[in-house]
Amino acid sequence: MAQIFSRRADLYFRLGLIAVLGLPIVLAISGFAYYRSSYFTKVGEYVAQPVPFSHKHHAGELGIDCRYCHTGVEKAAFAGLPPTETCMTCHSQLWTNAPMLAPVRLSLATDTPLRWQRVHDLPDYVYFDHSVHVNNGVGCSSCHGNVKSMPLMMKAEPLSMGWCLDCHRDPAKNLRREDEIFDMTWHPAADQDDKGRMLLAHYGIRPDHLTDCSVCHR
Ligand code: HEC
Ligand code: HEC
Ligand code: HEC
Ligand code: HEC
Ligand code: HEC
Repeated sequence: MAQIFSRRADLYFRLGLIAVLGLPIVLAISGFAYYRSSYFTKVGEYVAQPVPFSHKHHAGELGIDCRYCHTGVEKAAFAGLPPTETCMTCHSQLWTNAPMLAPVRLSLATDTPLRWQRVHDLPDYVYFDHSVHVNNGVGCSSCHGNVKSMPLMMKAEPLSMGWCLDCHRDPAKNLRREDEIFDMTWHPAADQDDKGRMLLAHYGIRPDHLTDCSVCHR
């Protein structure tokens, strides 16, 4: 039988076939990598803000308490952002002519809030509550990283469902004492296994229900 395709054409055909069959697999793998990558989750990225507010300077070097500006964090679902008046308690006297602070002065003068861009923003179908975590042994830095070292705010964790569940399955490994909640450099100690078990009982946490869908999707 005469060859319909020449050897060369046959080779091209095979290569083409490999490309066609292989492409979806390559796309799937790279798509997955993209989904998991920090580009997608925006971990470590800065967000442009109306004023380049520095946590490193204010919370780190000046040592202003997180709760001075995020007043809801222990009492409510939302930590909240400070109104312009909070900035002006200091900046009506300090750095009063700094161009960097012009938007803050304008905000006060025109009685329009500064439009801070969200850095952490869960989809609307996810329920989250700060007070539940902060009052039950989970510190800021477990979810936000070392905020006191950040010149500009950035996401330290992906805030994906898998990330939430990783802690909800076994919270003991991340639990701290009450006086350690605002410690931005906290790390589990060598005896965290024992400590965690004790703290689980201390806070009365029952991890068995924490992975139910209805906890976060209500
Ligand atoms: C002097 C006021 C002030 C203090 C003190 C302060 N913050 Fe903030 N914080 C802000 C402002 C203003 C923003 C919004 C601008 C930004 O994202 O940088 C913000 C944003 C944040 C965000 C991101 C919000 C978002 O958009 O998702 C986190 C997380 C945060 N602060 C945590 C902390 C922690 C933890 C501390 C204590 C170590 C702290 N802050 C202390 C004023 C403050
Ligand atoms: C408790 C006092 C205090 C409060 C409240 C405060 N600041 Fe400041 N801020 C300072 C001081 C002190 C400096 C630094 C001056 C210097 O460099 O010596 C400063 C500096 C700044 C600077 C200059 C850049 C930098 O970080 O060095 C910006 C911008 C700024 N603050 C924005 C804000 C905003 C926005 C708020 C409100 C969310 C705010 N500050 C609240 C005390 C305060
Ligand atoms: C268990 C994880 C977790 C802990 C612990 C945590 N946060 Fe958050 N934080 C988040 C998530 C998730 C968001 C985004 C919420 C959303 O989009 O509705 C957020 C948002 C914020 C915001 C933006 C404003 C708001 O209320 O949504 C601020 C400010 C903030 N956190 C400050 C803090 C401070 C200060 C602490 C410690 C006292 C803290 N957080 C502890 C997970 C956490
Ligand atoms: C580092 C650990 C940790 C991380 C990360 C974490 N959580 Fe939690 N979460 C806890 C603990 C511990 C409790 C239990 C408090 C209790 O049982 O009293 C809890 C409780 C909750 C509750 C309340 C449960 C109830 O019984 O009503 C909600 C809602 C919740 N978490 C949502 C989230 C979401 C959404 C995320 C991710 C964005 C998240 N959590 C990330 C530790 C964590
Ligand atoms: C501890 C909190 C938590 C629990 C428990 C939880 N989820 Fe989620 N879920 C999330 C968060 C956070 C997101 C948003 C993820 C994102 O934005 O990347 C999410 C997203 C989703 C999505 C959207 C698609 C996706 O993957 O982005 C679906 C569907 C979903 N969850 C289903 C479920 C089901 C079914 C369960 C129970 C088996 C469940 N979730 C339990 C926190 C939770």
